[in-house]
Amino acid sequence: MLLLGIETSCDETAAAVVENGRKILSNVVSSQIDIHARFGGVVPEVASRQHVSAVIPVIDEALRLADTHWEGLSAIAVTHGPGLAGSLLVGVSTAKAISFAKGLPLVGVNHLEAHIYANWLGEEEPCFPLLCLIVSGGHTDLILMKGHGDYTLLGNTRDDAAGEAFDKAARILGLGYPGGPAIEKAARGAETCLKLPRAWLKDTADFSFSGLKTALLRLAETGETGNIPKAAAGFQEAVVEVLVKKTVDAATTHKVKQILLSGGVAANSFLRQQMAASAPVPVLAPPPSLCTDNAAMVAACGYRRFQAGHIHNTGLDVIPSLTLV
Ligand code: KG4
Ligand code: ZN
Repeated sequence: MLLLGIETSCDETAAAVVENGRKILSNVVSSQIDIHARFGGVVPEVASRQHVSAVIPVIDEALRLADTHWEGLSAIAVTHGPGLAGSLLVGVSTAKAISFAKGLPLVGVNHLEAHIYANWLGEEEPCFPLLCLIVSGGHTDLILMKGHGDYTLLGNTRDDAAGEAFDKAARILGLGYPGGPAIEKAARGAETCLKLPRAWLKDTADFSFSGLKTALLRLAETGETGNIPKAAAGFQEAVVEVLVKKTVDAATTHKVKQILLSGGVAANSFLRQQMAASAPVPVLAPPPSLCTDNAAMVAACGYRRFQAGHIHNTGLDVIPSLTLV
């Protein structure tokens, strides 16, 4: 069974064709990073306009690379939240039009759930119960997953998301946008780490990163971040240490079989290494290109929803603040 996935929730216009929720036949991502970089972050109105001009060529390319046509598809899956309202509208309106014109069932997908399902696109199929750490530009969620669609939120961020913290820290250090890859790259050249505080928030699986960002800003103001690699490595180490400790503690408490990493920050190789080195159970993470926004994960997630009978058709609407649990 082939599903077309469409993703336009933020600044990537993406389309993909996936077989049985696991095998990628095509995965096209048109990034707007260069356009937004000069503003230091995503400009919502600019993002919507870019999606409008890119979405049809990206879908055509995904079908072409998968060597299929509309007739070969069983359904269309599209991200309908959470995300930027104008950006989501482009993907959802396009998917609704195709669904109506081609008579294809339409499945609305939660972007966060799609990030989790990027882990089903690898060779090894995840096994339940598992713990999933979603770390993206908008979310830092620790979720217990006992089966498909069965989620319990154990903890989340009380202020900045992990990716947001990376982006803000990069701006403080003058490293540009997006901040995560820039910090990771700069940190590779470090011989020592700048000492920065960690917010442990004892006896909870919640996170907080805004104090760390402020601490970095104060040091930048007094000129103590002059050694950029040292500052970047110190920041990265502080974020990763808290993410790893809280995830490992929750994995032990809830006796899970596996830990899954997902979301853009899961592309960070220091996080991946540290988690694998400390975890009491195997750690799975998608390849970096499937950690950041893409439509293969949307098709993979849409496949499960479709199998479970969740079909929206043309009544589907965008929900910018959609939650998972
Ligand atoms: O999942 P994603 O592509 O979009 C959202 O759903 O938010 O995540 C984007 C976030 C950005 O904050 C970006 O700086 C961060 O993921 N990111 C990284 C890395 N690559 C992307 N953070 C740390 N290290 C990376 N290598
Ligand atoms: Zn995302």
